[in-house]
Amino acid sequence: MSKLAGSQKATQFTESVIREMTRLNDQYGGVNLSQGFPDFPAPQAVKDAACAAIQADVNQYAVTWGARPLREAVAREFTRRYGVPVVADEQVTICCGSTEAMMATMMAIIDPGDEVVIFEPFYENYGPDAILSGATPRYVTLHEPLWSFDPDELAAAFNNRTKAVILNTPNNPTGKVFSRSELEAIAALCRKWDVIAISDEIYEHIIYERQRHIPIATIDGMAERTVTINGLSKTYSVTGWRVGWTISPRSLTGAIRKVHDFLTVGAAAPLQEAGAVALGLPDQYYLDIATQYQRRRDVLLEILERRRFTCYRPFGAYYIMTDISGFGFADDVAFARYLVKDVGVAAVPGSSFYQDAAKGRTKLRFCFCKRDETLAEADRRLETLIPASVPRY
Ligand SMILES: Cc1ncc(COP(=O)(O)O)c(C=O)c1O
Repeated sequence: MSKLAGSQKATQFTESVIREMTRLNDQYGGVNLSQGFPDFPAPQAVKDAACAAIQADVNQYAVTWGARPLREAVAREFTRRYGVPVVADEQVTICCGSTEAMMATMMAIIDPGDEVVIFEPFYENYGPDAILSGATPRYVTLHEPLWSFDPDELAAAFNNRTKAVILNTPNNPTGKVFSRSELEAIAALCRKWDVIAISDEIYEHIIYERQRHIPIATIDGMAERTVTINGLSKTYSVTGWRVGWTISPRSLTGAIRKVHDFLTVGAAAPLQEAGAVALGLPDQYYLDIATQYQRRRDVLLEILERRRFTCYRPFGAYYIMTDISGFGFADDVAFARYLVKDVGVAAVPGSSFYQDAAKGRTKLRFCFCKRDETLAEADRRLETLIPASVPRY
């Protein structure tokens, strides 16, 4: 094969379908309910803090593992909320988004041949993350309608080669919030097989109906074997800032920091200063975003159900997984293309959340982190959806 081709690793995964849907949406002038980013402003105090930091000339490299005020804020808030002591200097690393935090963690802990347990459906990035870090993924199904796992299936996925389990709660794309008993079952397997939990908790504060977010690091014996990943993107509506972090056991921090340093040197210095201000917002801010997102969820649920989608009600994060079998399309990709091109609404084909595309064939994910006007416009456009009785292309 010509040396002018990409690496074997790079040919094992496709471009992000989620990001591609945003590009298609822009091309066709659609309403973008695909990629998860808000179309409303970020909190004024947080934007002001970023502008102030730039004006104060916080414009050079921050310490590679993160500016002290943000690292300390991350440690302080985790300890305050969950009672798990975190030492900023020894356990917190600021990265370029939780995306880089996940990649740096995987590269820091995985050796070739190591297995990583991933719940499926999963956030699209975890597949390429596993390939790029050399991990062999072992998928465990979250069964609809409640997206629960079978404890025996989970236990069967663990063995001596298992290095880590990737968890995402509240979950994208399903909206599942893992319960304490589920987390205890996962934790028991981690302890039994000496496995690291990598827990993506980026939707920590986006949670509904009196559900409670439980970090797996709070379960017995797990603080010393959990890397908790989070970031500013979703909680403060600043997905373009690219600031995230890891909270790691001391035994792993050095490896994560080295990988992070050589991947990116560091996250944007002035935005880290603003991040410290963001994390200091009063508790009411977090209660308000949960209430507002729950209202947006209910608006989109009503729209989609009226437009004949079968919806899986989410209890956290800001997506609705739907079943589209009633529309009679060949598959999710054909339906998503029709929807963005002919109807003018972008959503994400379900197959992008499964390693076996067939499992997502009848699913489509919509996001609702949007203004009321945007959701109303999507509703108006969905009126033109052709009934299932009409033959499809
Ligand atoms: C589960 C999950 N993790 C990570 C990310 C990316 O976060 P960041 O912007 O911090 O890289 C997303 C974005 O949609 C996500 O849904």
